Amino acid sequence: MATAPTSRFPPWQRALHWLMFLLVAVAYLLIELREDAPRGSALRSNLLQSHVLAGLAILALVWPRIWMKLRRGSPPITPPLQRWQTQLSALTHFALYAFLLVQPILGMLTIWMAGRGLPIFLTGLEIPSPFVGNHDWHEWFEGAHKLLGNAFYWVIGLHIAAALYHHFLRRDDSLTRLL
Ligand code: HEM
Ligand code: HEM
Repeated sequence: MATAPTSRFPPWQRALHWLMFLLVAVAYLLIELREDAPRGSALRSNLLQSHVLAGLAILALVWPRIWMKLRRGSPPITPPLQRWQTQLSALTHFALYAFLLVQPILGMLTIWMAGRGLPIFLTGLEIPSPFVGNHDWHEWFEGAHKLLGNAFYWVIGLHIAAALYHHFLRRDDSLTRLL
């Protein structure tokens, strides 16, 4: 078993990490399920709208996390990491924060560049597009959103594998300070 944490992330930072993990997993799941829903069906549209809602929640919640990270950093890990481990985890965490910020924005621009409003699931409301529809830009943002979405399966996988390695093999407190 890993050691008990010497210092932990503040409670709301811990809660936000796990809530956002859930939201990202749900966003991925919904868009994968959409692939199988019949084209033009209400189910297909609802799956996309709930994907959008999960993504917008991620965009709203990432700001306090970035602010806190910049102000307070992260609590130390015991026993301390080697230099290359610290550098690799800093790079991965930077990429994860960037993803949580950029991916929802690319999704919003995908819809807006098609000249469509952003549907807010279950409310019947739409945030109108501030842009005139542009097919080329729509395709570009859609391609970027898909590319990043698919690439981050791997980055998130690496992050989870690293967390399990630290907890079960290296037996440090990196995971327990987040629980
Ligand atoms: C972190 C949050 C998000 C993640 C992880 C994510 C991930 C993905 C993935 C993996 C796909 C499928 C790509 C493919 O077919 O290969 C997708 C499609 C899509 N996403 Fe997101 N997304 C997020 C947020 C958003 C947001 C906030 C919006 C809109 C406001 C959005 C709009 C779309 C749209 C419209 C598509 C469908 C593109 C198409 O196939 O026509 N996404 N997303
Ligand atoms: C969508 C999935 C996930 C995302 C986007 C994500 C994102 C992040 C981010 C941005 C950090 C950096 C926190 C900071 O230092 O400010 C972090 C830390 C951490 N995450 Fe995740 N996470 C995800 C899933 C998971 C899962 C499933 C686990 C456990 C199996 C996990 C374990 C950890 C641990 C142990 C840390 C602390 C690492 C350290 O401080 O060196 N994460 N996560």
